Amino acid sequence: MIQVLVTAKDGQLAQCIQSLTTQYHNFQFVFKSSSDLDITNKTNIEEVLGAQSFDYCINCAAYTAVDKAEEEIELADRVNHLGAKLLAESCHSFNVTLIHISTDFVFDGKSSKAYLESDNTNPLGVYGITKLKGEQAISKALERHFIIRTSWLYSEFGNNFLKTMLRLANQRDDIGVVGDQIGSPTYARDLADVILKLMESKTTNYGVYHYSNEGEVSWYDFAKEIFEVCNSSIKLNKIETKDYPTPAVRPKYSIMNTQKISQLLDLKIPNWKLSLAQAITNL
Ligand SMILES: NC(=O)c1ccc[n+]([C@@H]2O[C@H](COP(=O)([O-])OP(=O)(O)OC[C@H]3O[C@@H](n4cnc5c(N)ncnc54)[C@H](OP(=O)(O)O)[C@@H]3O)[C@@H](O)[C@H]2O)c1
Repeated sequence: MIQVLVTAKDGQLAQCIQSLTTQYHNFQFVFKSSSDLDITNKTNIEEVLGAQSFDYCINCAAYTAVDKAEEEIELADRVNHLGAKLLAESCHSFNVTLIHISTDFVFDGKSSKAYLESDNTNPLGVYGITKLKGEQAISKALERHFIIRTSWLYSEFGNNFLKTMLRLANQRDDIGVVGDQIGSPTYARDLADVILKLMESKTTNYGVYHYSNEGEVSWYDFAKEIFEVCNSSIKLNKIETKDYPTPAVRPKYSIMNTQKISQLLDLKIPNWKLSLAQAITNL
């Protein structure tokens, strides 16, 4: 049996992993909440990693409040950078392979073609900066690591764009959604499945990988499809980023090239529309 530790069990991604565990019989999972395992506390990490022998640690813990991070710089850094560093150092000491999740926000979105893993990073805000520092600290501390950058994560769990749109559809007659930011929505359950496949493959091709669902859309297109699938009558207006100012600047174009992980695991990545329909059914 492959022994797997998962951090932040109440977060969106960890809950998706939990929902898939019955489909993977050769893994034994230990899920820890943020109060059982605080990744910013070295003693706490060592207690958990020392309690039993783990093959993998999947780090789902992160400071994910992108706008609030512009004010809570120290806290965002503590979790996304220093927490990731501590976890990687402890994984090194306890011989554990770390699977860490990062973000498209490490890029500035000024490219016109899909980002490769090897492309230059240039985060625009505190969240992206702290996530990038986390990536760098992990690759310095630990050879046995996989960093999976993903984008526009949503699911039936936690707070996300899909759930916000469904809530607003019940509360409002119309809504404005940004049409000039392009990305690839990712169903967190698809990402969870890929993480499990990665462990199952036992590959040792460590490093950075990109994973998102297939296809490019704006937030407006994403919202439009959500309302269509749900037969919502809400009036949807396309607005521009300048009409919806936020504390954190978002990348305008954050498509990531996913060929590296597709080839590694022989994946056929689902198109975003297909996965969205699946997520709405699961909701
Ligand atoms: N959501 C997106 O659109 C998106 C896009 C790209 C990448 N990502 C990345 O994907 C990963 C998973 O995101 P998600 O959407 O599942 O996030 P999420 O739902 O916001 O969950 C984050 C979890 O981290 C926990 N946490 C915070 N500080 C912690 C600490 N010091 N120790 C242990 N746990 C801690 C939180 O617990 P408490 O609530 O108890 O504090 C929460 O359960 C993250 O690395 C994120 O950066 C997300």
